[in-house]
Amino acid sequence: MDIPVLHRLALNESPYPPLPSVREAMERAVAQAHRYPQFHPDDLTERIAAWCRLSPDRVAVGSGSVGVALQLFQAVVRPADTVVYAWRTFDAYPLLAAMAGARPVPVPLSPDGSQDLGALLTALDHHTRVVVLCNPHNPTGSLVTAEELSAFLRQVPRHITVLLDEAYVEFARGADLPDTPALLDAHPNLLALRTFSKAYGLAALRVGYGIGSPDLVERIRRQQLPFGINAVATAAVRASLRAEGELRRRVDTVVAERERLRDELVSLGWRVCPGHANSVWLASPDPVDAGVAALTEAGVQARHYPGEGLRLTVGDRNANDTVLTALAGVRAHRSASRT
Ligand SMILES: Cc1ncc(COP(=O)(O)O)c(C=O)c1O
Repeated sequence: MDIPVLHRLALNESPYPPLPSVREAMERAVAQAHRYPQFHPDDLTERIAAWCRLSPDRVAVGSGSVGVALQLFQAVVRPADTVVYAWRTFDAYPLLAAMAGARPVPVPLSPDGSQDLGALLTALDHHTRVVVLCNPHNPTGSLVTAEELSAFLRQVPRHITVLLDEAYVEFARGADLPDTPALLDAHPNLLALRTFSKAYGLAALRVGYGIGSPDLVERIRRQQLPFGINAVATAAVRASLRAEGELRRRVDTVVAERERLRDELVSLGWRVCPGHANSVWLASPDPVDAGVAALTEAGVQARHYPGEGLRLTVGDRNANDTVLTALAGVRAHRSASRT
């Protein structure tokens, strides 16, 4: 018999549905669904740029951040080019590279789950067109610090675009976080990707954006599908920008729950490295397979990477308590079987 899924913790989604003000804005837009959205999303781009304190020519909006990434690949990749990225990472990168006709070049993560910046730099050659960094990293949640990122960017040749995926940046805390907008002037080959899918909880609506040099942004915009950003999504993003304080408080709650989950898992005997996204990462040699089985039994859907680890999205308190109970059971069972 199939066990019902009670808690969806497999896709790093927000545990919260849209705020009432965001729903109302969406409903108003639904009532106008017989009208086209803007041909190019200029108004939305201006709003996002003002909110990021950037000029609009530094912002490209797309169908999720994954859509902006595809636009970038389509804009810069030529036949026989390669795209270099740390692996494991977000599943879309090999697919997007292939869609754009590039050869993917995966570079293994360091044993601690961080992206091996030295190995990534070594993998760059005259065929490389794009190098992807994910910060915080998916799935391990590791962080590239401001100092590490600056040193990395200084060593990447200018003809290679650095795609810095910051889908989870709102969940990262600490003094050593990169200030990406401040790096754009010095690095015209840098494109940072951000999204309304994660911290802003609008995953179903598919709005992301890239920030970069005007020249790169212009090339990315040329790949934009006309009428490609729908009006309901636009209304939701605009309302979310107005409700930023409320949404930030939700993010703070997720961050506090992430830290609670980690502390409690560590006290149960799991080895969990500090994570900076809206997830925690349990890696082998911890009993990950037994953990997945226990979670499934408890109705928790997590993301299992067989032989590598288990990524658990931080859910609401109830979901996280269910996770803790299930994973405590695995530890208790293992200690009992050793005695
Ligand atoms: C690192 C990373 N980038 C991008 C995305 C996709 O974001 P979007 O919904 O904006 O396309 C995800 C989704 O899980 C992700 O993990």
